[in-house]
Amino acid sequence: MIPLDHASPEPLHRQVYRGMREAILGGRLSSGAQIPSSRWLADYLGVSRTTVLGAFDQLVAEGFIVGVVGSGSYVAQPFPDRLLQVRRSALTSDGRLAQPVRLADRIVRLGEELKGPRHLAGPISVFRIGLPPVDAFPLSVWNRLAGARHRKLETNQLRHGPPRGSEALRQAIVTHHAVARGVRCSPDQVIVLSSAQEAMDLACRVVLNPGEAVWFEEPGYSGARAALIAAGAHIVPVPVDGEGLVVERGIATAPDARLVYVTPSHQFPTGVTMSLERRLALLDWAARSDAWILEDDYDSEYRYAGCPLTALQGLDVGGRVLYIGTFNKTVFPALRLAYLVLPEALVDPALALRRRGAQHAPTIEQLILTDFLEGGHYVRHIRAMRALCRERRDALISAMEREAAGRLSVSRPDTGLHAVAWLPPGVDDQEASRVAAEHGVEAVALSCYCVTRPERGGLVLGYGGIRTPEIIGGVQKLVAALRPLI
Ligand SMILES: Cc1ncc(COP(=O)(O)O)c(C=O)c1O
Repeated sequence: MIPLDHASPEPLHRQVYRGMREAILGGRLSSGAQIPSSRWLADYLGVSRTTVLGAFDQLVAEGFIVGVVGSGSYVAQPFPDRLLQVRRSALTSDGRLAQPVRLADRIVRLGEELKGPRHLAGPISVFRIGLPPVDAFPLSVWNRLAGARHRKLETNQLRHGPPRGSEALRQAIVTHHAVARGVRCSPDQVIVLSSAQEAMDLACRVVLNPGEAVWFEEPGYSGARAALIAAGAHIVPVPVDGEGLVVERGIATAPDARLVYVTPSHQFPTGVTMSLERRLALLDWAARSDAWILEDDYDSEYRYAGCPLTALQGLDVGGRVLYIGTFNKTVFPALRLAYLVLPEALVDPALALRRRGAQHAPTIEQLILTDFLEGGHYVRHIRAMRALCRERRDALISAMEREAAGRLSVSRPDTGLHAVAWLPPGVDDQEASRVAAEHGVEAVALSCYCVTRPERGGLVLGYGGIRTPEIIGGVQKLVAALRPLI
């Protein structure tokens, strides 16, 4: 029986082919069995002979059946029996895999260690983290630049691009970041990638051997932890206090670490800025220990109080810092463009990997982004976003003070897109996060970003991508939901 659906968009010859293939693989047509003639089958199925011959041609081409001149068609002899035994023993009666799936140890570790939620796509609920104010993005400017680029696209732009990324974009990145972030490098040290995440993966593959120790901010960004786990790193949690990563603790715990991952301008998730003393101590340790510093400068452009801070990379004279920046936060997340600035000695090894991997970031988006940067739109956008994010932060803080004074104490970040609402001592933040989610509020537990149990729980609240009225409504819902716990 080959069930046919005449209303299906799948052509009939494909349906006949699929039905016969399944009959062979399922053992209903056994190895060496004669296949009914195409004329008989066409009559039986109520389709044209051309349809059946089309299916036969495909089955012959794939080696399922063979035609014997003057005698008809047969199920192929050499492979099906052995193949069928393997298939039958591999599957349970309802078609699932009989054996437990064997995964790489690193993937198992990833699942065990990173349990927190990671919502990025899908409908936005209030306090989604990692979301910039896309509602205020100058879409008409972007569409105009994109339209102009698409209209004058040339054949040579359709070929592979350079693995480092477009030269004009790398130059624009260097020019902007020298002024805005104090990053010191030549365009040749910049590699354009799809995301900060891809930059972390590439950096880890270039400098880390499996089992090597890496200092990791506690609490710290789970995406970076995922990249380190995937690279087989031995993660050493190093606490963060009011001055950032406690360098002395790192030295005391794992002096021979090979790498340290840090977010010095705006620590994720606490929002602390690393003091100059700690920055210098970190650079000094890295230079003395032949270690690397992976600096993730993910949202420092969103600084709305005081002067912009210089990146750690700009203080580095020993060539120890690998610097990551991303346009997915400052332009829009769907863009998927970021960059890695490498010490000169690491550029060629990283490019060798890049050439054997994704090759390069999409050319057309790089061209549009270059125009956005060179035309001054980027700087204007960032300036407008700083004002908007400050307004949203203030709305969050005032609403928290109104609704939950004395019960939730919210941090006052001067950079970025999120804040931390600290829970009263003893309140389990995972439980608080679960209760909030039941009331439609997304609030990631701070402990999801910790390797060890934090002394005090908190909820990480994104406000950058949420409009003020929703922020206020979200705070009311959150406080009402948490009332039994706080
Ligand atoms: C600390 C940190 N680094 C990097 C990123 C992600 O950047 P990208 O989307 O370019 O991977 C995030 C996203 O939330 C982040 O919080």
